[in-house]
Amino acid sequence: MLSPFGHVLHAFLLVLYLLTAPSPPEESACSVRLGGPAAAAVAEEERCTVERRADLTYAEFMQQYAFLRPVILQGLTDNSRFQALCSRERLLASFGDNVVRLSTANTYSYRKVDLPFQEYVEQLLHPQDPASLGNDTLYFFGDNNFTEWASLFRHYSPPPFRLLGTTPAYSFGIAGAGSGVPFHWHGPGFSEVIYGRKRWFLYPPEKAPEFHPNKTTLAWLQDTYPALTSSERPLECTIRAGEVLYFPDRWWHATLNLDTSVFISTFLG
Ligand SMILES: *[C@@H]1O[C@H](CO)[C@@H](O)[C@H](O)[C@H]1NC(C)=O
Ligand SMILES: *[C@@H]1O[C@H](CO)[C@@H](O)[C@H](O)[C@H]1NC(C)=O
Ligand SMILES: *[C@@H]1O[C@H](CO)[C@@H](O)[C@H](O)[C@H]1NC(C)=O
Repeated sequence: MLSPFGHVLHAFLLVLYLLTAPSPPEESACSVRLGGPAAAAVAEEERCTVERRADLTYAEFMQQYAFLRPVILQGLTDNSRFQALCSRERLLASFGDNVVRLSTANTYSYRKVDLPFQEYVEQLLHPQDPASLGNDTLYFFGDNNFTEWASLFRHYSPPPFRLLGTTPAYSFGIAGAGSGVPFHWHGPGFSEVIYGRKRWFLYPPEKAPEFHPNKTTLAWLQDTYPALTSSERPLECTIRAGEVLYFPDRWWHATLNLDTSVFISTFLG
């Protein structure tokens, strides 16, 4: 679970957004090294309200989750080899000169910017300024060139579950601590964390959340989330390296990277 990218949410940012009493800290190497375990723990949710399932069969997945609710799947895939290839050093060595297409981190991702991968990692992959707007924040997710990155992606084992009539499409990304896409929805899919931790907020299709499309998830967490009544709260959980979150068709979701994170989604379009 050590993030080779190092950053965890800055202490100042965590203090600003302190929402819950620190839960027993997890001694992950990056939090010990950079932020201290207590600092790393505070941005995590009080409790996880998405079910975690290990050894789920395909039949159980289809009956209990596929069309009904999200679930976190544990032990579904072993991507330790892929993870090793995703360290900062190895990615820079293999792909540093490649031009990557960045998106703004707002709900509708209006703007795209092309930049060499190395410049993105060295200049933009830092913890998010809590005052910045989503439409002013660039991050690398999706728009992947599968020709140029084939030597990496062929080592990824996607979740083995499929939905009839859908074709899987990958979206690979790396984003700084504190970043994340605010609420939006699309078709069903899976999202796996390769390094770092990613906190998810989810609402069923009929329960559209209130949010400003250019505000970050972090701003929503600070401004809106604390006033929600228990029935207005989203389902939420923080997923870690090796865990896969499944989100059904048209479920609203917002994400928040608690560390500099590497992740890959498999959209079932
Ligand atoms: C970002 O959105 C805000 C508020 O919606 C707007 O005032 C600002 O001009 C936008 N920034 C850019 C770069 O488009
Ligand atoms: C992907 O990379 C290849 C090889 O560099 C290039 O020829 C192709 O135009 C790129 N595709 C896109 C969509 O950028
Ligand atoms: C969000 O930002 C985009 C571009 O930055 C702008 O065109 C749009 O009007 C903004 N939306 C709102 C609701 O302010």
